[in-house]
Amino acid sequence: MAANSFGKVFRITTFGESHGKGVGAVIDGCPPGIPLSEDDFVSEMARRRPGRTPVDTPRSEPDRVEIFSGVFEGVTVGTPIALFIRNQDVKSAPYEILRRLFRPGHADYTYFKKYGHFDFRGGGRSSARETAARVAAGVIAQKILAPVEIRIAAYTLEMGGIRAEHIDLDAVHKNPFYCPDVAVVDKMGEVLSRAREAGDSIGGIVEVRITGCPAGLGEPVFDKLSADLAKGVMSVGAVKGIEIGAGFGAARLKGSQNNDPITPTGFVTNHAGGILGGISNGDDIVLRAAIKPIPSIMMAQETIDREGRPARLKLEGRFDTSAVPRIVPVLKAMAAIVLVDHYLRSKSLW
Ligand SMILES: Cc1cc2nc3c(=O)[nH]c(=O)nc-3n(C[C@H](O)[C@H](O)[C@H](O)COP(=O)(O)O)c2cc1C
Repeated sequence: MAANSFGKVFRITTFGESHGKGVGAVIDGCPPGIPLSEDDFVSEMARRRPGRTPVDTPRSEPDRVEIFSGVFEGVTVGTPIALFIRNQDVKSAPYEILRRLFRPGHADYTYFKKYGHFDFRGGGRSSARETAARVAAGVIAQKILAPVEIRIAAYTLEMGGIRAEHIDLDAVHKNPFYCPDVAVVDKMGEVLSRAREAGDSIGGIVEVRITGCPAGLGEPVFDKLSADLAKGVMSVGAVKGIEIGAGFGAARLKGSQNNDPITPTGFVTNHAGGILGGISNGDDIVLRAAIKPIPSIMMAQETIDREGRPARLKLEGRFDTSAVPRIVPVLKAMAAIVLVDHYLRSKSLW
């Protein structure tokens, strides 16, 4: 696999599999002088860990981030920062069946077709366990962005068809679903529990909102800010679509409705989602990602074995009922990684 690195100046490489010794990230291009300790990772890592909702995978990982290099006397030194997160609660036996059978909706079939030999335990490299490394790298990205007041919020806009109608950022971290609308939190919980009881899973929509981004970030034509955000977000497992600003809704608007009038004090509306021509325009950057339902479900499903013979698969491993709450900090981290890369690229020009 030769595509495990992302970013041009702030460049992250992730490594590790779900049931190997651990996962981690190497970050090259982090400027010197950023205060950094292992404690800095604790709160963001806790947001991605399972166990916030009763229907998360019962796998219980401490997700403690160890810093192997790049930090001296509590401050980054500009050399590669290696972060390691040990896998400690690994139970591979229930996954033995995946040595033979492919999970519908998961990556087993395509990994087999591409690599032939791969670590299928717990999803191996295609497991969401890999996203722990992204969240850790995202913590460093957010530390660089904070002093320049580029801030990122992410939340569950919709889960199992229940949509937040009201966005209150103060509410996001006060409920297990990262829902910004307290009025629908219980309904989200019900729909999630019902899916679990039925042995099924659900998807949803996550919104990411970036405030304080100055105009001018983004590198036309191939490294447009919108293009890199899309790539960063779409590289996370279970993400099936992304829209920026009015997104797919813009296809049904007229120019007179979709254009954001410009005044001396700023844009009147924000259908552009903060990006024009691939360059930030100074307004809030708003994107939404569509998250598919978790492929691992408890119902028996039709599949084939490695020889192509028909089979039935009834899974017994440990899995989430929805990726949605747990993916929220992952998408926030990916947005931060893209933003910091472009921020550092813009600084190297001026
Ligand atoms: C935070 C998060 C948690 C996930 N949890 C599970 C899980 O418990 N079981 C599962 O089968 N897939 C889970 N997934 C989804 C798979 O990783 C994903 O569907 C798989 O890698 C196939 O990739 P694709 O859906 O992008 O095609 C999770 C994804 C994320 C981002």
